[in-house]
Amino acid sequence: MDNQQLLDLIDRMTLEEKIAQLLQLAAPFYEGVEDEGQITGPMQAMGITDPMIASSGSILGYARAAGAVRVQEAHLKKNPHGIPLLFMADIVHGFKTIFPVPLAMGCSWDMELAERSAEIAAREAAVSGVHVTFAPMVDLVRDPRWGRVMESTGEDPYLNSLFAKAFVRGLQGDNLKEETERVAACVKHFAAYGASEAGRDYNTVDLSERQLREYYLPAYKAALDEGCEMVMTSFNTIDGIPASGNEKLMRGLLREEWGFDGVLISDWGAVKELIPHGAAEDEREAAYRAIRAGVDIEMMTSCYVHGLPELVREGRVDEALIDESVLRILQLKEKLGLFDNPTRGASPERAAEVIFSREHRDAAYEAAIKSIVLLKNEGGVLPLSPEAKVALIGPFASSGDILGPWSWDGSTEDAVKLDAALSERLGKDRLIVAEGCGIERGTDEHLLAALKAAAEADVIVLALGEASEMSGEAGSRSDIRLPQAQLELIDSIAGLRKPTAAVLFNGRPLDLHGVYDKTGAVVEAWFPGSEGGAAVADILLGAVDPSARLTMSFPHSVGQVPVYYNHFNTGRPLGAADAQVRYVSQYLDAPNDPLLPFGFGLSYTTFGYDGLKLSSDEMTADRPITVSVNVTNTGARAGTETVQLYVRDIAGEVVRPVRELKGFVKLELAPGERGTAVFTLGEEQLRYHHSDLSFGSDPGRFEVFVGRSSLDTLKSSFILKEN
Ligand code: GLC
Repeated sequence: MDNQQLLDLIDRMTLEEKIAQLLQLAAPFYEGVEDEGQITGPMQAMGITDPMIASSGSILGYARAAGAVRVQEAHLKKNPHGIPLLFMADIVHGFKTIFPVPLAMGCSWDMELAERSAEIAAREAAVSGVHVTFAPMVDLVRDPRWGRVMESTGEDPYLNSLFAKAFVRGLQGDNLKEETERVAACVKHFAAYGASEAGRDYNTVDLSERQLREYYLPAYKAALDEGCEMVMTSFNTIDGIPASGNEKLMRGLLREEWGFDGVLISDWGAVKELIPHGAAEDEREAAYRAIRAGVDIEMMTSCYVHGLPELVREGRVDEALIDESVLRILQLKEKLGLFDNPTRGASPERAAEVIFSREHRDAAYEAAIKSIVLLKNEGGVLPLSPEAKVALIGPFASSGDILGPWSWDGSTEDAVKLDAALSERLGKDRLIVAEGCGIERGTDEHLLAALKAAAEADVIVLALGEASEMSGEAGSRSDIRLPQAQLELIDSIAGLRKPTAAVLFNGRPLDLHGVYDKTGAVVEAWFPGSEGGAAVADILLGAVDPSARLTMSFPHSVGQVPVYYNHFNTGRPLGAADAQVRYVSQYLDAPNDPLLPFGFGLSYTTFGYDGLKLSSDEMTADRPITVSVNVTNTGARAGTETVQLYVRDIAGEVVRPVRELKGFVKLELAPGERGTAVFTLGEEQLRYHHSDLSFGSDPGRFEVFVGRSSLDTLKSSFILKEN
């Protein structure tokens, strides 16, 4: 259908039918869904009538190949104009083949890998009947108390933007109408949900507009520049107004300034939440503010269907606002080809062929090995010697809970567990397994069995971490250490004074007190997905070299939070030449720097840096400079180094961060091999939002840092001159 045909269709619809297109309901409301029995409860509670369901626009959270065909066909018979449903679901890092959580994927610094993971997730979702996925989540994060940091790729706007583009490319492909095994992407949560105060989910966000534009908005914009079809509102307030009713942010910035004319969907219940937020007296008022803000689809509440008809008839809401929302929704259905092909990619045959295929699991394995970060390795604990007798101890030794909180159709039973993977590689006679304790509780009996296992082994691998529900949505923690039972287990094992490696399965940077100081090696596996156990085993045994680098800082303790690499210097920086002993920006009881900084990660080999060179010590807008550095593999094993380029603008119209990531180069080097990383740095990369929100660079002196992490670099400098 062309636009005129869509407009003609809208003209034929009643006001109630148009408003119902703005309604998204969860699967149980629809005929043909296996668990239809659940309809009456929520339906009565929400006052949803059959005609509303018949005219509704989209279904949330249903993905079954045959079922999707059944539900769509049943719906088409009921919809007065034969308008198909949009099927939407949360395929965030995999459908059935689960990839590492995005915070892990972020540590790969590998955009092709990210794109490939998204393409596979889209294929498995599309053949199961999904048309739109609520991904990528690109919220910038600086507070590990927040449970949803696992869904993000970290604390840097530049890297988050690259990942946002890669995920959108993988999900959407080039032509959603022809490529029926891709899905439309929905970038979320707009905006700045990651800045929830105190890391408490759904909490207030209060930032200057400059801070918002400089750090939190770039990744959403990057997703939209890559053609992302949909945006989801966030639960939080921005400048005192909840995002789902925030006209300045949505209609002003997103639609008018950025020119986004795609579909804007609320998060679950977020329109009605304007009431508890204190931004609306009742559902009518909530509907009024949301439609004026430009929210097209109301997810799982019924303010629109109950409130908008009267508001339009009273003349408080112009029916044109309804029509523009309906048009955007119908345009998306047209882009997906649903009018001609309403069941689109749904195919039981294809589902049987592609879902959880070996090819997909191999891709998940590759993503996992590239996302696992080696945080410590002293005394040669790792890689494990092939002859060693290993005691594998801990609540994650045999656990399948390694998929993370958004693992949709992923099966913990089918996940490759660490004990099985190690047993396959070491042989049963060289592996002893003991749980040692539960995730949050332990018993003396378990502990004794673990100590006995450890006593028989040459080396100990502790498999520790957080249950998946300890992070993710509504998974905020005020104490980000491992649970006490696990700390006690580590302490007991440490008493044996045997080589010990801790492997962490978790969804956030943790306070590693009692872990980092008590073990010789620490491996951050995050939630590594369906092939996680195999990937961890191969890293532990040195079959592959750990190459991942952190994209979110690990604090010494929660007392330092928020702690992030691109911070300001302050007027009394610690460590300055003329710094006083006391009156500087510091803690009395902790360092300022995190335990492990942004960009940090170890390999089994080492890399030496020398010869940092700039093509010129002057840059103009017309004349970029080249930055190069030599990197030598100074160890005995091949490895991959992620050479990172940072800049610091020494003086700006507003103060500038002490480091800003502007590029990275990966070098795979054999033992003794020397490579050169070359970067081009241009004036456009030095631009930032000034106090008047204008975006531009300031002439003056800049420092350049090149190295293995944000805190371990060689330094040089250049002058940016007016043209
Ligand atoms: C949740 C999440 C959002 C998700 C939506 C639909 O509350 O905030 O990320 O896409 O509901 O499940």
